Amino acid sequence: MKKIAVFLSGTGRTLENLIKWLPPDIVISLVVSDRADVRGNHIARHYDIPLEPYIIQGWISTLETCRQRGIDLICLAGFLQRIDVTEYWQNKILNIHPSLLPAFGGKGMYGHRVHEAVLARGCKVSGCTVHYVDNEYDHGKIIAQEVVPIYSNDTPDTLATRVFERECYLYPEVIKDYFSQKQSN
Ligand code: GRF
Repeated sequence: MKKIAVFLSGTGRTLENLIKWLPPDIVISLVVSDRADVRGNHIARHYDIPLEPYIIQGWISTLETCRQRGIDLICLAGFLQRIDVTEYWQNKILNIHPSLLPAFGGKGMYGHRVHEAVLARGCKVSGCTVHYVDNEYDHGKIIAQEVVPIYSNDTPDTLATRVFERECYLYPEVIKDYFSQKQSN
């Protein structure tokens, strides 16, 4: 059995999707939230997944808690803080971003801001990216991407919906691959 922790700041739609699509041998054994009372926290409680606040300082830091609990992989899911990735966690933290990185990423680029910027630039395609997390926003090595078309009548909302559909497919697939590749190494 593999244990993952999901870090969130908001609605928890990505958490819900992972709960639905991860196989039984990949267990979400911890949810970490940096906000009180967001919908994502309610989802964690609803599914009886232990919920912890995000703490960055000292010996109780959340990354250390994850290590002590035997978490194999951390998956960011709409988590808005930058993480200082310690050596132990290199290549063990994933993020999903709603654009084709390296375009439209970085500090302040999240949620609808991304889709607004993509449409304002006149892009003809967009998509989503799963990447390893390093010490810069949306910067680590790219693992997988999915592309979606952009139509002339798209709004940030319609584009966000189309991209999120691909995210729902891509993230569980990458997580499954991550563990199956580890096994075959
Ligand atoms: C998605 O846009 C994803 O790409 C980004 O956060 C959004 C999902 O957040 N990382 P949530 O799951 O709805 O809270």
